[in-house]
Amino acid sequence: MPNTKIAGIGFYVPEQVVTNHDLMRHMDTTDEWIQERSGIVERRFAKRTEETTTTLGAKAAEIAIQRAGITKEDVDFIIFATLSPDYFFPGCGVLLQRELGITHTEIGALDIRNQCSGFVYGLSVADQFVKSGMYKNVLLVGSEVHSMGIDFSTRGRNVTVLFGDGAGAVVLQPTEEKGKGVLVSKLHSDGTHAEQLAFINPGCHAGYHFKKMGTEVDFGYEDVEFGGLFLTQKMMDDGMIFPNMDGPLVFKHAVTKFPEVIMEVLNDQGLSTSDINLFVPHQANLRISQLVQRQLHLRDDQVWNNIQRYGNTTAATIPIALCEAWEAGKVKDGDLICIAAFGSGFTWGASLIRW
Ligand code: ACO
Repeated sequence: MPNTKIAGIGFYVPEQVVTNHDLMRHMDTTDEWIQERSGIVERRFAKRTEETTTTLGAKAAEIAIQRAGITKEDVDFIIFATLSPDYFFPGCGVLLQRELGITHTEIGALDIRNQCSGFVYGLSVADQFVKSGMYKNVLLVGSEVHSMGIDFSTRGRNVTVLFGDGAGAVVLQPTEEKGKGVLVSKLHSDGTHAEQLAFINPGCHAGYHFKKMGTEVDFGYEDVEFGGLFLTQKMMDDGMIFPNMDGPLVFKHAVTKFPEVIMEVLNDQGLSTSDINLFVPHQANLRISQLVQRQLHLRDDQVWNNIQRYGNTTAATIPIALCEAWEAGKVKDGDLICIAAFGSGFTWGASLIRW
């Protein structure tokens, strides 16, 4: 059975740079607060009406495809990971196919809804397809346009200051080289805290989960006679249409689950943290990455962080960071790369890749 290698990698971030000082014009926050709590200095925002999650993904994909030495027509499966899709349905997978101009139908497109761990989950799915021989050129894209769906008033500041837009992509192919490629992936989930980091409305929940949890929330359903529970006037008036996050709860779980799952993939392969040449963590918060680095006794040169410049781009953080590291010559033939993510769901996971 072949292994799965990353044959090409690319990333794209919008040109528009938004600094912490720019955000201060819209909400009660400070550059000091944002940097001290998250490490973020600036992020990129997509150009309204000209860029979407799909178009950013397509730009990153084109670079990855070219670097893999294939053409768009050679791609036989698309996996698109995002939490900020262009449409509720259809997903971005088919939109990407169209954007790339792939007109043949000997191809499948799958959308992954795993938020921050979307890329790790996507890699694991792609790995199975490639190993089994079902597909030979899988295009995996992580892309986000957060800027169009977050609250720029002070009410949303705890979430809004953390996020940015961007995309990363890889082309995955089979390799017969022994011990190369994706060595292992471990995936986890725990739905207990699903609503603590979530984008709830619009949605088809009709209050069910809140009622079951005994949490009284008035979504404004009384004003609606038939249908239309998806989005009510009250949801809009009360700003219930933005993501919400219990930051300290997420932080606490992240700093526990990251090291656990990293040790799990290392133990699976009989390896230790000193064998890692480069650790590319999901860029949720620089403080989380630093704590994890310390817990695992990793040196600075073993870790790649870029949240300072891009913020949290959710499903895109790992491919963007991995691509930047590769372009900087930090990823060499034979290197052991560890990627890991934790986020909404909660879902988390890690993979080891021998480059
Ligand atoms: N500017 C200024 N003050 C703020 C801001 C802001 N942008 N946001 C919140 N505050 C205030 C709060 O109102 C609070 O004020 P109070 O003490 O008067 O009530 C105070 O700052 C502290 O708030 P906390 O939420 O307790 O701050 P904390 O130190 O926990 O930092 C942070 C918040 C940065 C969000 C942190 O909890 C964190 O990084 N959590 C993890 C985030 C994460 O990993 N998310 C997952 C990825 S997202 C995904 O999967 C979709």
